[in-house]
Amino acid sequence: MTKTMLRALAGETLPTPPIWMMRQAGRYLPEYRATRAKAGDFLSLCYNPELAAEVTLQPIRRYGFDAAILFADILLLPQALGADLWFVTGEGPRLSTITGPEGLKGLKGKDDIHEHLAPVYETVRLLSGALPADTTLIGFAGAPWTVATYMIAGRGTPDQGPAHALREGDPETFGAIIDLLTEATIEYLSMQVEAGAEVVKLFDSWAGSLRGEAFERFALAPAKRIITELKARHPGLPVIAFPRQAGDKYIGFARAVGADCLAIDNSVSAQWAAEMLQPDGCIQGNLDPRHMVTGGQALIDETRQIVEAFRNGPHIFNLGHGITPDADPENVQLMIDAVRGG
Ligand code: CP3
Repeated sequence: MTKTMLRALAGETLPTPPIWMMRQAGRYLPEYRATRAKAGDFLSLCYNPELAAEVTLQPIRRYGFDAAILFADILLLPQALGADLWFVTGEGPRLSTITGPEGLKGLKGKDDIHEHLAPVYETVRLLSGALPADTTLIGFAGAPWTVATYMIAGRGTPDQGPAHALREGDPETFGAIIDLLTEATIEYLSMQVEAGAEVVKLFDSWAGSLRGEAFERFALAPAKRIITELKARHPGLPVIAFPRQAGDKYIGFARAVGADCLAIDNSVSAQWAAEMLQPDGCIQGNLDPRHMVTGGQALIDETRQIVEAFRNGPHIFNLGHGITPDADPENVQLMIDAVRGG
């Protein structure tokens, strides 16, 4: 096995960690903005396999990252299940809302998603033939809780209030949404793997707003079910789990859900994570994405500190969350040089 990303995921400690960035294909890159304009809008880009593959490859060509992540969005799955989805420029996603049992009735079954998602699978197929031999292809999906927060509220929310209200007020409907998403996510990711994804990542961006037993039931248990089933169908498939903002609930999470790698945000220190989390396996993270805007010596120092903190175990270098549109592409190169050049 020569791909450094796969070696780190298998638990190997490498002299230089593999690197990629969340949202590495995105608006901070002029070539991304040009291709998106050609596609018309963001969703048309997601559903155009040639152009989606092109934007996936752009950061690989520019920076030589060790991994490429499929260009798509976590909200394509609810759309495939029958939710309305559109993006308001400068604001973010909008979806039809689910406020009770009748909202569920309009949704399709877990096996009825593939026709809608066929262009995504085609993007994966194109990429697996087009990537450099040492670049690993990552497929992904949103975790059920995070996707449910958007389906219930119809948009991103600062505190996931509507989803928590449904969870407490109508546990039956809420539980049915989580179960449907859990099973549909297995089918969706399984098809990505069959199309050529070598690793899958589960994004639970809002896991941090679940507390106590709710975290166990709606973040941990669905991740465990998805990972267990995917690994049964695809033996040896490496999985990255990202229960963002989980704080002390990061401890033991990877082992509990069966993930090969725990991705962490930048609210926890690399030193703490190296001590408390890395003994369980590979850690991915965790530079503050603001450094991609501000740059300078602080970026270099912080990058080196993270590499140093994780140097005695398996590590994949990444940001703690997605790179933002106001980032300077030159700062990305500075970060890569600091990781690779020491
Ligand atoms: O990382 C990558 O480069 C791969 C592609 C990818 C996108 N979204 C493209 C995208 C991935 C892995 C995602 C995941 C995603 N999408 C998450 C989980 C990760 C996270 O950021 O917490 C979430 C919550 C979404 C939902 C979503 N998509 C939101 C809330 C928004 C609007 C906010 C924003 O950044 O504009 C999007 C839009 C989106 N998804 C863009 C991209 C490149 C920007 C759209 C554009 O080009 O106008």
